[in-house]
Amino acid sequence: MATVEHLSPLWDAFRKELAEVSTDEALTDLRDKYLSRSRGAVTVELKKLGQLSAEERPQAGKLLNELKLLVEQALAEKAGEIREKQKSARYQAERVDVTLPGYAYHTAGRHPIRRALEEMERIFVSMGFSIMSGPEVEVDYYNFEALNMPKGHPARDAQDTLYVTDNLVLRTHTSPVQIRTMEKQKPPVRIIAPGRVFRRDSVDATHSPMFHQIEGLVVDEGITLADLKGTIEMFLKAFFSEDTRIRLRPSYFPFVEPGAEVDVSCIFCRGTGCSICKQSGWIEIMGAGMVNPRVFQILGYDYEKYTGFAWGMGVDRIVMLKYQVEDLRLLFDNDIRFLSQF
Ligand code: PHE
Repeated sequence: MATVEHLSPLWDAFRKELAEVSTDEALTDLRDKYLSRSRGAVTVELKKLGQLSAEERPQAGKLLNELKLLVEQALAEKAGEIREKQKSARYQAERVDVTLPGYAYHTAGRHPIRRALEEMERIFVSMGFSIMSGPEVEVDYYNFEALNMPKGHPARDAQDTLYVTDNLVLRTHTSPVQIRTMEKQKPPVRIIAPGRVFRRDSVDATHSPMFHQIEGLVVDEGITLADLKGTIEMFLKAFFSEDTRIRLRPSYFPFVEPGAEVDVSCIFCRGTGCSICKQSGWIEIMGAGMVNPRVFQILGYDYEKYTGFAWGMGVDRIVMLKYQVEDLRLLFDNDIRFLSQF
């Protein structure tokens, strides 16, 4: 019979069990035990109502429904408590101590080659040059043929070329950008072309299969060797120092005539002789010359009307001089202890 006397032990038992519950699973089990449709202790009592007489039934039903409501409320309260506990446990686990010192981090810097290139570009741009670029994987025609080095030309051998296919090479110099520029542009031309070049070389303190050049090309009416000399000198004075001098020694490149090697007065001993310049007072830094009319002819430029000069400057060489780096390999190892000095 559903009387207060009969039901209060049920309630007490429920309360006792509820007090022990601390997980979602245990709570679900407890809910089933008291309220599940088929075998819940409270449900079972409710089902028994049908056996009561009409007088007893309303009173007992009311009591049972109150009990059911109390159980439901208690269960809901417990569910809330469990949720709160889980939340604070998670906060505890994920706690961040904001007073801990942070991670030290390194500020990135520009690589010495990059720095030098940017400085060189800045100077040439201030002299009125624009900057061009070309592909590092280059067609034979641009790397050789149009530069007056037809197949079988002995000058090709001197280049230690890395071939991709019979017709494709890793460019051995930045000179192909001369051709690409003149194909697109009529005179006057005044460009530089910085970039990577590749040659079949084994690595040592002064050689690398990959290095950098800055090509220069000026074409217009009335350009002379004096313009070449003046331009190079002006650049080197700006890049190194005002007392820098240059000298030209005759040399041969198929795409210039006459051709020259350009030496700069040693920036360490100022020309008096030291170990860097091997006591000569001079350091070789580029090939240069007047554009061979044959090249103009290949490109369809009017070689009666226009003259021009070009140079190919060794950037890595200059970087080594400027920053007094004695081993070229240091520039490409990317050892942070070396790089952080710049
Ligand atoms: N391209 C030549 C080299 O790499 C250098 C050069 C450029 C010479 C332009 C003359 C004129 O060796």
